[in-house]
Amino acid sequence: MGSFNHLQEQILKLKREKNALVLAHYYVPLEVQDVADAVCDSFAMAQKAAKAREELIVICGVRFMGESAKILSPEKTVLLPSLDAGCPMADMVTPEDVLRLRAQHPRARVMCYVNSSAAVKAVSDVCCTSSSALRIARALDCEEIIFAPDRHLGAYVAAQVPEKTFWLHDGFCPTHHRVTEADVLAAKEAHPEAVFAVHPECGDDVVKHGDLVGSTAEILDFARKTQAPQILIGTEREIVERLRRELPEKKVYGVGGAFVCPNMKKVTLQALYECLRDEKYKVELPEDELTAARRSLDQMVKS
Ligand code: 13P
Ligand code: SF4
Repeated sequence: MGSFNHLQEQILKLKREKNALVLAHYYVPLEVQDVADAVCDSFAMAQKAAKAREELIVICGVRFMGESAKILSPEKTVLLPSLDAGCPMADMVTPEDVLRLRAQHPRARVMCYVNSSAAVKAVSDVCCTSSSALRIARALDCEEIIFAPDRHLGAYVAAQVPEKTFWLHDGFCPTHHRVTEADVLAAKEAHPEAVFAVHPECGDDVVKHGDLVGSTAEILDFARKTQAPQILIGTEREIVERLRRELPEKKVYGVGGAFVCPNMKKVTLQALYECLRDEKYKVELPEDELTAARRSLDQMVKS
């Protein structure tokens, strides 16, 4: 990691002075990850937010991550460094969509991906992340599951849990959706000894080539443990950068060109500095939404 620059030093000082807990997602810039108290996938982020002792929690990630932290720790102050860092997939599903699917499939339970608004979580039965989706789908006491919003993660879970019938919302992550099977085949041809670790937000024709299909944390774990000297990564660029820094003895390659989540890149060091200095931007949610959404997130965190 090396030494900290001036802005990073100022952030670390503010963090100490305010006794703030800073949680970062693996897709935010590495220089922001480096000043966080923990770098997490969505599941670990929710768990750490739920258990936080600090009164002030800063979520270096996109809006739904800040909302989830607030729902799980409603008495705490939860801040987001960038107000306009959203998740386009989360914006693809509305509570009305979920209610319509419920009306169409009255025997189904609703499982919503954590990449969704608090309002969608409030009308769902249980939340999941990419690392907990299979476990939660298998454990749900029902024969039918409505899954929203990610049709790719939903299709992956449905294929692994054939004993249940799935009804999928048609959302997707524009960043992961863009990668094609041709991208993967080209990368495999260029690096024939490489193993491939892929995020389930990619399409099924990409995911089917994965030696490991998993969350950001699971991809990192796999890359650290594999004996293979070359690793292809089917997720956001920052994971590739992190692995190159961590594992200089291995060759790590991204597939599919510019694999970037532009919203995560809005969480800059400057934004984090101003966030801690001015205690902005506070996540606020209507009380009824917060209470209703908490049921489905609590279940996920305990699973
Ligand atoms: P993870 O839970 O794997 O960190 O995924 C979050 C996300 O938004 C992936 O696009
Ligand atoms: Fe949302 Fe995709 Fe960015 Fe993840 S990578 S936060 S799913 S837009």
